[in-house]
Amino acid sequence: MDNKLSSYKTYMTRVGNEKIPCYEPSVGDEELELVSDVIKSNWLSEGKYTRKFEGLLADYCHRKYSLAFSNATSAMITGMKSLGIGSGDEVIVPSYTHSADPNSIYATGATPIFADVDESTLCLSVETIEKVRTKKTKAILHVALYGNCGNIADIHDYAKKNNLYLINDCAAAMCSFYKGKNIVSYGDFSVLSFFSDKTITTGEGGMLLTDNAELLEECNMYKHDGRRERGVDLIERHGYNFRITELQAAVGVAQFGKLNFFINRKKEILKDYQKRLSNIANIRFFEFNSACDVVPHRVLIFVPDAAALISHLTQSGIGVRTTFMPMHSQPIYNIKKKFIITDKLFQTGIALPSAPTLSNEQIDLITRSIINFYKTI
Ligand SMILES: Cc1ncc(COP(=O)(O)O)c(C=O)c1O
Repeated sequence: MDNKLSSYKTYMTRVGNEKIPCYEPSVGDEELELVSDVIKSNWLSEGKYTRKFEGLLADYCHRKYSLAFSNATSAMITGMKSLGIGSGDEVIVPSYTHSADPNSIYATGATPIFADVDESTLCLSVETIEKVRTKKTKAILHVALYGNCGNIADIHDYAKKNNLYLINDCAAAMCSFYKGKNIVSYGDFSVLSFFSDKTITTGEGGMLLTDNAELLEECNMYKHDGRRERGVDLIERHGYNFRITELQAAVGVAQFGKLNFFINRKKEILKDYQKRLSNIANIRFFEFNSACDVVPHRVLIFVPDAAALISHLTQSGIGVRTTFMPMHSQPIYNIKKKFIITDKLFQTGIALPSAPTLSNEQIDLITRSIINFYKTI
Protein backbone atom coordinates (compact mmCIF):
# COMPACT_ATOMS: atom_id res chain seq x y z
CA MET A 1 0.00 0.00 0.00
CA ASP A 2 1.02 3.54 -0.69
CA ASN A 3 2.96 4.83 2.37
CA LYS A 4 0.95 8.01 2.72
CA LEU A 5 -2.33 6.09 2.81
CA SER A 6 -0.96 3.58 5.26
CA SER A 7 0.28 6.22 7.74
CA TYR A 8 -3.05 8.04 7.40
CA LYS A 9 -4.93 4.81 8.23
CA THR A 10 -2.66 4.10 11.21
CA TYR A 11 -3.25 7.60 12.53
CA MET A 12 -7.03 7.42 12.03
CA THR A 13 -7.19 3.97 13.69
CA ARG A 14 -5.22 5.25 16.68
CA VAL A 15 -7.40 8.34 17.09
CA GLY A 16 -10.58 6.38 16.27
CA ASN A 17 -9.82 3.88 19.06
CA GLU A 18 -9.70 6.61 21.67
CA LYS A 19 -12.98 6.58 23.53
CA ILE A 20 -11.93 9.89 25.11
CA PRO A 21 -10.09 12.06 22.59
CA CYS A 22 -7.09 14.10 23.66
CA TYR A 23 -8.80 17.02 22.01
CA GLU A 24 -11.74 17.64 19.68
CA PRO A 25 -13.25 20.78 18.19
CA SER A 26 -16.59 22.05 19.37
CA VAL A 27 -18.63 23.15 16.35
CA GLY A 28 -22.35 23.25 15.66
CA ASP A 29 -25.29 25.28 14.39
CA GLU A 30 -23.56 28.68 14.70
CA GLU A 31 -20.73 27.58 12.38
CA LEU A 32 -23.17 25.89 9.98
CA GLU A 33 -25.21 29.06 9.68
CA LEU A 34 -22.26 31.26 8.73
CA VAL A 35 -20.72 28.65 6.41
CA SER A 36 -24.03 28.30 4.59
CA ASP A 37 -24.13 32.09 4.24
CA VAL A 38 -20.72 31.90 2.52
CA ILE A 39 -21.91 29.15 0.21
CA LYS A 40 -25.05 31.07 -0.70
CA SER A 41 -22.92 34.14 -1.47
CA ASN A 42 -20.83 32.07 -3.94
CA TRP A 43 -17.60 33.75 -2.75
CA LEU A 44 -15.23 31.18 -1.26
CA SER A 45 -11.86 32.93 -1.27
CA GLU A 46 -11.11 35.61 1.36
CA GLY A 47 -13.99 38.04 1.74
CA LYS A 48 -16.08 39.85 4.34
CA TYR A 49 -15.84 37.09 6.96
CA THR A 50 -12.05 37.04 6.69
CA ARG A 51 -11.88 40.81 7.27
CA LYS A 52 -14.33 40.48 10.16
CA PHE A 53 -12.35 37.63 11.73
CA GLU A 54 -9.15 39.70 11.47
CA GLY A 55 -10.83 42.69 13.12
CA LEU A 56 -12.24 40.65 16.01
CA LEU A 57 -8.84 39.17 16.80
CA ALA A 58 -6.86 42.40 16.51
CA ASP A 59 -9.20 43.97 19.08
CA TYR A 60 -9.15 40.98 21.40
CA CYS A 61 -5.35 40.66 21.25
CA HIS A 62 -4.66 44.40 21.74
CA ARG A 63 -2.99 44.75 18.34
CA LYS A 64 -3.42 47.44 15.68
CA TYR A 65 -3.25 45.12 12.66
CA SER A 66 -3.94 41.51 11.79
CA LEU A 67 -3.66 39.38 8.69
CA ALA A 68 -5.28 35.97 8.23
CA PHE A 69 -3.17 33.09 6.91
CA SER A 70 -3.58 29.46 5.90
CA ASN A 71 -1.88 28.45 9.17
CA ALA A 72 0.47 29.78 11.85
CA THR A 73 3.51 28.34 10.05
CA SER A 74 2.90 30.39 6.91
CA ALA A 75 2.28 33.49 9.05
CA MET A 76 5.61 32.95 10.82
CA ILE A 77 7.58 32.43 7.59
CA THR A 78 5.97 35.53 6.09
CA GLY A 79 6.59 37.70 9.15
CA MET A 80 10.25 36.73 9.38
CA LYS A 81 10.87 37.22 5.66
CA SER A 82 9.16 40.60 5.86
CA LEU A 83 11.49 41.64 8.69
CA GLY A 84 14.40 40.77 6.39
CA ILE A 85 15.46 37.66 8.31
CA GLY A 86 17.27 35.22 6.02
CA SER A 87 20.53 33.60 5.04
CA GLY A 88 23.39 34.24 7.48
CA ASP A 89 21.06 35.14 10.35
CA GLU A 90 20.45 33.13 13.50
CA VAL A 91 17.13 32.99 15.32
CA ILE A 92 16.99 31.72 18.91
CA VAL A 93 14.14 29.28 19.47
CA PRO A 94 13.27 26.90 22.32
CA SER A 95 14.02 23.25 21.66
CA TYR A 96 10.87 22.37 23.62
CA THR A 97 8.30 23.34 20.99
CA HIS A 98 6.42 22.42 17.83
CA SER A 99 8.49 21.78 14.71
CA ALA A 100 6.74 24.73 13.01
CA ASP A 101 9.09 27.09 14.86
CA PRO A 102 12.52 25.84 13.74
CA ASN A 103 11.09 24.82 10.36
CA SER A 104 9.78 28.34 9.71
CA ILE A 105 13.17 29.82 10.56
CA TYR A 106 14.80 27.32 8.25
CA ALA A 107 12.36 28.21 5.47
CA THR A 108 13.55 31.82 5.49
CA GLY A 109 17.17 30.69 4.95
CA ALA A 110 18.16 31.58 8.52
CA THR A 111 19.47 29.08 11.09
CA PRO A 112 17.44 28.04 14.15
CA ILE A 113 19.60 28.14 17.29
CA PHE A 114 18.08 26.01 20.01
CA ALA A 115 17.91 27.13 23.63
CA ASP A 116 16.74 25.42 26.80
CA VAL A 117 13.61 26.65 28.59
CA ASP A 118 12.92 27.86 32.10
CA GLU A 119 11.38 25.00 34.06
CA SER A 120 8.88 27.24 35.81
CA THR A 121 7.43 28.70 32.60
CA LEU A 122 8.25 26.13 29.85
CA CYS A 123 9.34 29.16 27.82
CA LEU A 124 12.61 30.93 26.96
CA SER A 125 14.07 33.23 29.60
CA VAL A 126 16.72 35.94 29.37
CA GLU A 127 19.19 33.46 30.94
CA THR A 128 18.53 30.67 28.43
CA ILE A 129 18.67 33.16 25.54
CA GLU A 130 21.91 34.73 26.74
CA LYS A 131 23.61 31.31 26.76
CA VAL A 132 23.21 30.85 23.00
CA ARG A 133 23.30 34.41 21.62
CA THR A 134 26.05 35.12 19.09
CA LYS A 135 26.99 38.02 16.81
CA LYS A 136 24.76 36.49 14.13
CA THR A 137 21.62 36.48 16.29
CA LYS A 138 18.97 38.53 14.54
CA ALA A 139 15.81 37.53 16.41
CA ILE A 140 14.33 35.69 19.36
CA LEU A 141 11.33 33.46 18.77
CA HIS A 142 9.43 33.24 22.05
CA VAL A 143 6.85 30.45 22.20
CA ALA A 144 3.97 30.81 24.67
CA LEU A 145 3.91 27.05 25.15
CA TYR A 146 0.62 25.36 26.03
CA GLY A 147 -0.91 28.80 26.59
CA ASN A 148 1.61 29.72 29.26
CA CYS A 149 3.54 32.98 29.15
CA GLY A 150 7.25 33.36 29.70
CA ASN A 151 8.39 36.55 31.39
CA ILE A 152 7.82 38.31 28.11
CA ALA A 153 8.38 41.85 29.39
CA ASP A 154 11.97 40.95 30.40
CA ILE A 155 12.56 39.24 27.05
CA HIS A 156 11.11 42.25 25.26
CA ASP A 157 13.51 44.61 27.12
CA TYR A 158 16.44 42.29 26.43
CA ALA A 159 15.60 42.17 22.71
CA LYS A 160 15.35 45.98 22.53
CA LYS A 161 18.65 46.47 24.38
CA ASN A 162 20.45 44.07 22.04
CA ASN A 163 18.81 45.27 18.85
CA LEU A 164 17.06 41.96 18.16
CA TYR A 165 13.64 41.30 16.73
CA LEU A 166 11.14 39.59 19.02
CA ILE A 167 8.76 37.14 17.40
CA ASN A 168 5.98 35.74 19.54
CA ASP A 169 4.47 32.35 18.71
CA CYS A 170 1.13 32.38 20.51
CA ALA A 171 -0.29 29.52 18.41
CA ALA A 172 -2.04 28.12 21.47
CA ALA A 173 -2.07 31.15 23.74
CA MET A 174 -4.59 33.56 22.28
CA CYS A 175 -6.50 34.02 25.55
CA SER A 176 -3.60 34.34 28.02
CA PHE A 177 -2.82 37.67 29.64
CA TYR A 178 0.57 38.75 30.97
CA LYS A 179 0.22 41.41 33.68
CA GLY A 180 -3.16 42.42 32.29
CA LYS A 181 -2.08 42.63 28.63
CA ASN A 182 -2.85 39.98 26.07
CA ILE A 183 0.35 37.94 25.52
CA VAL A 184 -0.26 38.26 21.75
CA SER A 185 0.33 42.03 22.02
CA TYR A 186 4.08 41.50 22.63
CA GLY A 187 6.74 41.29 19.94
CA ASP A 188 7.43 42.78 16.52
CA PHE A 189 4.77 40.39 15.40
CA SER A 190 2.92 37.45 16.90
CA VAL A 191 1.10 34.51 15.37
CA LEU A 192 -1.97 32.44 16.23
CA SER A 193 -3.00 29.00 15.01
CA PHE A 194 -6.56 27.82 14.40
CA PHE A 195 -5.74 24.14 13.92
CA SER A 196 -8.45 21.77 15.19
CA ASP A 197 -7.07 21.58 18.74
CA LYS A 198 -6.71 25.31 19.35
CA THR A 199 -8.90 27.50 21.59
CA ILE A 200 -10.91 28.53 18.55
CA THR A 201 -10.54 26.58 15.35
CA THR A 202 -11.09 26.90 11.62
CA GLY A 203 -9.76 23.36 10.92
CA GLU A 204 -6.50 24.83 9.66
CA GLY A 205 -5.74 28.54 9.78
CA GLY A 206 -3.52 31.19 11.28
CA MET A 207 -3.08 34.89 11.86
CA LEU A 208 -0.24 37.39 12.08
CA LEU A 209 -0.70 40.37 14.40
CA THR A 210 1.45 43.47 14.66
CA ASP A 211 1.41 47.19 15.45
CA ASN A 212 3.75 47.99 12.55
CA ALA A 213 1.90 49.20 9.43
CA GLU A 214 4.93 48.81 7.14
CA LEU A 215 5.50 45.25 8.28
CA LEU A 216 1.84 44.47 7.66
CA GLU A 217 2.05 45.83 4.10
CA GLU A 218 5.12 43.70 3.40
CA CYS A 219 3.47 40.59 4.87
CA ASN A 220 0.35 41.22 2.81
CA MET A 221 2.43 41.10 -0.38
CA TYR A 222 4.23 37.87 0.56
CA LYS A 223 0.90 36.31 1.44
CA HIS A 224 -0.76 37.30 -1.87
CA ASP A 225 1.80 35.73 -4.25
CA GLY A 226 4.02 38.82 -4.15
CA ARG A 227 1.27 41.27 -5.13
CA ARG A 228 -0.87 43.66 -3.12
CA GLU A 229 -4.15 41.79 -3.70
CA ARG A 230 -5.70 39.07 -5.81
CA GLY A 231 -6.28 40.22 -9.37
CA VAL A 232 -3.38 42.70 -9.35
CA ASP A 233 -0.91 42.18 -12.22
CA LEU A 234 2.20 43.74 -10.68
CA ILE A 235 4.38 41.22 -8.81
CA GLU A 236 6.63 42.99 -6.29
CA ARG A 237 7.98 40.08 -4.19
CA HIS A 238 8.84 36.38 -4.52
CA GLY A 239 5.67 35.61 -2.62
CA TYR A 240 3.35 32.73 -1.82
CA ASN A 241 -0.32 31.91 -1.72
CA PHE A 242 -0.83 31.72 2.05
CA ARG A 243 -4.49 32.76 2.11
CA ILE A 244 -7.20 31.28 4.30
CA THR A 245 -10.60 30.49 2.72
CA GLU A 246 -13.81 32.37 3.41
CA LEU A 247 -15.43 29.13 4.61
CA GLN A 248 -12.78 28.84 7.32
CA ALA A 249 -13.05 32.50 8.29
CA ALA A 250 -16.82 32.11 8.72
CA VAL A 251 -16.18 29.19 11.10
CA GLY A 252 -13.68 31.40 12.93
CA VAL A 253 -16.21 34.20 13.41
CA ALA A 254 -18.73 31.72 14.83
CA GLN A 255 -16.08 30.19 17.10
CA PHE A 256 -15.08 33.62 18.37
CA GLY A 257 -18.69 34.09 19.51
CA LYS A 258 -18.26 31.09 21.84
CA LEU A 259 -14.93 32.19 23.27
CA ASN A 260 -16.14 32.76 26.83
CA PHE A 261 -17.57 29.27 26.97
CA PHE A 262 -14.25 27.77 25.77
CA ILE A 263 -12.21 29.81 28.25
CA ASN A 264 -14.39 29.00 31.24
CA ARG A 265 -14.68 25.33 30.43
CA LYS A 266 -10.90 24.92 29.95
CA LYS A 267 -10.26 26.54 33.32
CA GLU A 268 -12.95 24.40 35.01
CA ILE A 269 -11.52 21.21 33.52
CA LEU A 270 -8.06 21.98 34.93
CA LYS A 271 -9.51 22.65 38.40
CA ASP A 272 -11.55 19.45 38.29
CA TYR A 273 -8.48 17.34 37.44
CA GLN A 274 -6.49 19.09 40.21
CA LYS A 275 -9.17 18.38 42.79
CA ARG A 276 -9.57 14.72 41.87
CA LEU A 277 -5.82 13.99 41.75
CA SER A 278 -4.73 16.11 44.69
CA ASN A 279 -3.84 13.07 46.81
CA ILE A 280 -1.47 11.42 44.34
CA ALA A 281 2.04 12.23 45.49
CA ASN A 282 3.63 11.21 42.18
CA ILE A 283 1.75 13.83 40.17
CA ARG A 284 2.81 17.44 39.82
CA PHE A 285 0.44 19.71 37.94
CA PHE A 286 2.21 22.36 35.90
CA GLU A 287 1.80 25.67 37.71
CA PHE A 288 1.06 28.30 35.09
CA ASN A 289 3.00 31.57 35.45
CA SER A 290 1.51 33.44 38.41
CA ALA A 291 2.15 36.78 36.66
CA CYS A 292 -0.35 35.66 34.03
CA ASP A 293 -3.99 34.84 33.64
CA VAL A 294 -3.54 31.70 31.56
CA VAL A 295 -6.11 29.71 29.65
CA PRO A 296 -4.52 26.26 29.66
CA HIS A 297 -4.19 24.84 26.17
CA ARG A 298 -3.71 21.39 27.72
CA VAL A 299 -3.87 19.98 31.23
CA LEU A 300 -0.21 19.15 31.86
CA ILE A 301 1.06 16.82 34.54
CA PHE A 302 4.61 15.77 35.30
CA VAL A 303 5.23 12.31 36.71
CA PRO A 304 8.33 10.15 37.30
CA ASP A 305 7.17 7.53 34.78
CA ALA A 306 5.41 9.30 31.89
CA ALA A 307 5.86 6.46 29.37
CA ALA A 308 4.36 3.86 31.74
CA LEU A 309 1.35 6.00 32.65
CA ILE A 310 0.77 6.95 29.00
CA SER A 311 0.80 3.27 28.03
CA HIS A 312 -1.67 2.43 30.84
CA LEU A 313 -4.10 5.21 29.85
CA THR A 314 -3.81 4.51 26.12
CA GLN A 315 -4.73 0.87 26.70
CA SER A 316 -7.94 2.09 28.34
CA GLY A 317 -8.77 4.21 25.27
CA ILE A 318 -7.84 7.52 26.91
CA GLY A 319 -6.27 9.99 24.48
CA VAL A 320 -3.15 11.20 26.25
CA ARG A 321 -0.04 12.60 24.61
CA THR A 322 3.58 13.17 25.45
CA THR A 323 4.61 16.83 25.55
CA PHE A 324 6.73 18.19 22.66
CA MET A 325 9.64 15.94 21.72
CA PRO A 326 12.71 18.20 21.89
CA MET A 327 13.64 19.66 18.53
CA HIS A 328 17.40 19.50 19.10
CA SER A 329 17.28 15.70 19.16
CA GLN A 330 14.99 15.31 16.13
CA PRO A 331 16.84 13.51 13.30
CA ILE A 332 16.40 16.52 10.99
CA TYR A 333 18.22 18.85 13.43
CA ASN A 334 20.24 16.37 15.53
CA ILE A 335 22.15 18.92 17.57
CA LYS A 336 24.66 17.17 19.84
CA LYS A 337 23.97 19.35 22.84
CA LYS A 338 22.29 18.69 26.17
CA PHE A 339 19.27 20.73 27.20
CA ILE A 340 18.73 19.39 30.69
CA ILE A 341 15.37 21.02 31.44
CA THR A 342 13.90 20.35 28.00
CA ASP A 343 14.89 16.68 28.11
CA LYS A 344 13.51 16.25 31.62
CA LEU A 345 10.22 17.94 30.74
CA PHE A 346 9.76 15.66 27.74
CA GLN A 347 10.53 12.51 29.73
CA THR A 348 8.16 13.38 32.56
CA GLY A 349 5.38 15.41 30.92
CA ILE A 350 1.90 14.22 29.92
CA ALA A 351 -0.91 16.16 28.24
CA LEU A 352 -4.27 14.89 29.49
CA PRO A 353 -7.53 15.13 27.51
CA SER A 354 -8.74 18.70 27.81
CA ALA A 355 -11.29 19.60 25.12
CA PRO A 356 -14.09 21.89 26.31
CA THR A 357 -16.48 19.09 25.32
CA LEU A 358 -14.97 16.81 27.99
CA SER A 359 -17.66 15.87 30.51
CA ASN A 360 -17.20 15.60 34.28
CA GLU A 361 -17.96 11.85 33.95
CA GLN A 362 -15.08 11.50 31.51
CA ILE A 363 -12.73 13.37 33.86
CA ASP A 364 -13.86 11.00 36.61
CA LEU A 365 -13.07 7.97 34.44
CA ILE A 366 -9.61 9.34 33.48
CA THR A 367 -8.64 10.27 37.02
CA ARG A 368 -9.84 6.92 38.42
CA SER A 369 -7.67 5.18 35.85
CA ILE A 370 -4.66 7.27 36.95
CA ILE A 371 -5.37 6.57 40.64
CA ASN A 372 -5.61 2.83 39.90
CA PHE A 373 -2.28 2.94 38.08
CA TYR A 374 -0.54 4.40 41.11
CA LYS A 375 -2.26 1.89 43.43
CA THR A 376 -0.88 -1.06 41.47
CA ILE A 377 2.75 -0.03 41.01
C1 LIG B 1 3.55 26.16 19.60
C2 LIG B 1 3.07 25.97 18.18
N1 LIG B 1 3.59 26.73 17.21
C3 LIG B 1 3.19 26.60 15.93
C4 LIG B 1 2.26 25.66 15.56
C5 LIG B 1 1.89 25.51 14.12
O1 LIG B 1 0.60 25.93 13.86
P1 LIG B 1 -0.05 25.63 12.43
O2 LIG B 1 -0.32 24.18 12.38
O3 LIG B 1 -1.29 26.46 12.39
O4 LIG B 1 0.92 26.06 11.40
C6 LIG B 1 1.69 24.84 16.54
C7 LIG B 1 0.68 23.86 16.18
O5 LIG B 1 0.13 23.13 16.95
C8 LIG B 1 2.12 24.99 17.88
O6 LIG B 1 1.64 24.21 18.87
